[in-house]
Amino acid sequence: TSSVVETDVLVVGSGPAGAASALLLSSLGVPNIMITKYRWTANTPRAHITNQRAMEIFRDVGIEDQVLADATPHHLVGDTVFCTSIAGEEIGRIHTWGTSAAREADYQLASPSLIVDIPQTYLEPILVRNATSRGTQSRFSTEYLSHTQDEDGVDVQVLDRMTGTEYTIRAKYLIGADGARSKVAADIDLPFEGAMDIAGSMNITFKADISAYCDHRPSVLYWVIQPGSNVGGIGAGLVRMIRPWNEWLIVWGYDINEEPPVVDDAAATEIVRNLLGMPDLEVEITGTSLWGNNEMYATHLQSGRVFCAGDAVHRHPPSNGLGSNTSVQDAYNLAWKLAAVLRGQANASLLETYSTERAPVAERIVKRANRSSREFVDLFVALGVTDAETEEEMVAAIEERKANTPEGAAKRAALVKAMELKNYEFNAHGVELGQFYTSAAIVPDGTARPEPTRDPDLYYEASTVPGSHLPHAWVGDNKAKHAMMDLAPYDRFTLISGIAGEAWEDAARQVSDELGVPMEAVIIGPGRPVTDLYYDWSKLREVEESGALLVRPDKHIAWRAHSLPADPRSELRTALSQVLGRG
Ligand code: FDA
Repeated sequence: TSSVVETDVLVVGSGPAGAASALLLSSLGVPNIMITKYRWTANTPRAHITNQRAMEIFRDVGIEDQVLADATPHHLVGDTVFCTSIAGEEIGRIHTWGTSAAREADYQLASPSLIVDIPQTYLEPILVRNATSRGTQSRFSTEYLSHTQDEDGVDVQVLDRMTGTEYTIRAKYLIGADGARSKVAADIDLPFEGAMDIAGSMNITFKADISAYCDHRPSVLYWVIQPGSNVGGIGAGLVRMIRPWNEWLIVWGYDINEEPPVVDDAAATEIVRNLLGMPDLEVEITGTSLWGNNEMYATHLQSGRVFCAGDAVHRHPPSNGLGSNTSVQDAYNLAWKLAAVLRGQANASLLETYSTERAPVAERIVKRANRSSREFVDLFVALGVTDAETEEEMVAAIEERKANTPEGAAKRAALVKAMELKNYEFNAHGVELGQFYTSAAIVPDGTARPEPTRDPDLYYEASTVPGSHLPHAWVGDNKAKHAMMDLAPYDRFTLISGIAGEAWEDAARQVSDELGVPMEAVIIGPGRPVTDLYYDWSKLREVEESGALLVRPDKHIAWRAHSLPADPRSELRTALSQVLGRG
């Protein structure tokens, strides 16, 4: 008997990046094993804001309903409050995560799914359960130790933490989704920019029913400006909803250059009571932990047959809610490429485009999250509390915003600006959705990416220029309504055209057969399986009715034809071959 276990892909980690990788690989029928160090998934709520691109991925693999069933719905996530305590005075509110009347339209127009809140403790079990039921071999209490790779695969040394036994897993590819302290990333010596542990945060989870303070201003986030709230951490004191309105997480900062604070039950209860402004509240403390804020990203994500994804390659504070979302999206970019290469449909060079496409995203989100966290200073400056040395001075400075004096008026005007700036953290639709890829797996058509007409961090603008994400529109017939993304499922390439481009149907069939790559054409128009019911798609497609868009499994546009060419088969064949690195 051999003690070597074999598989196609070994995934290290069962967090959002690892569990999503396993789920996507299993959904594509790729044999995989997922190992994770602990006996179960995340034991603290951690990431929670789940953005539209992540929800679309869950929709694509048929688990969106399961996620929604465990999530706090969109209409309860967005009345973000800034206050002196939950029971104390408000400094202001902003509508966040696309819940304002003005921004909700942008979000609705961009995607079939809206932002919801699902803590990691709820999301991970859904991902793991579905991955495992679709074929993933899940191994808990199993630790990655080291690996060696050769031309055909990777030998991974793992430790069964229950028995103390070490064994080898032989995989064709290895995904290191082992979090911010990734050993896999260190072992392949990925190049990083930035620094770890630049500020200290503590998490305190607790139970207390405070519905009376939330029902009329439902939100995930209540920011508290109190003495000490500008120390370390993520910008200010935070009371975060886990379950409405009786389970909560407090994030409070500490000075990372001092000894780490001891947060026992008494200390935790005092912090909770202070931030809530309820000195006698009965609180049940359910957990405490300390964590570091990072500003670090990898500039290359792969070495040979080993890839890293998630926090292993982008490490940043929770600001903008990008951590878990980007981790799931990394997996979505990588899994179909691995499947195509493993099946001989693509050249191994396709795998290098994972790094080319996702490393710029890592840099962008790490910088944005850290900038958002730093921009809290503007709020402190507007309130005039940065120079306050005593608690009394701080309280007096905050009080001054009420005064009928020139100073009071100046403070109110400064607050308008400081609050406006927080849109870059809480309504950064362009950062959330505006990912554009330039790589060997995208065939340019000579047109440039359109110049943004509005701020590209705040606003997402749809386009079909190759490299863009497929624009969203609702289409269908008298019986069903589909999102455009539903026409282009994850297990194939999809060619989208109109009635004047019907000849693409034969072209797609022939090229699919010739290259042995799953691809189907979808013709949109009256009397065809799907109709452009609202006449929205015609305005979004940017090509003539006879033109075509070649959509990759991950919904990015790989290539487009503006109109039907003389020889559509040959043009499509050339384009798809190039995307797959087949020359
Ligand atoms: P993640 O860290 O989730 O998972 C790593 C996985 O690898 C785990 O399953 C672990 O068991 C496994 N692993 C590690 N080493 C291993 C080894 N040697 N062998 C086997 N398995 C191994 N983000 C946010 O948006 N909002 C928030 O409020 C917070 N809060 C927060 C609090 C705390 C305390 C932390 C640590 C992090 C956050 N984050 C956050 C960040 C967010 O949780 C993070 O972006 C995602 O979890 C990243 O997902 P990954 O799957 O990449 O790593």
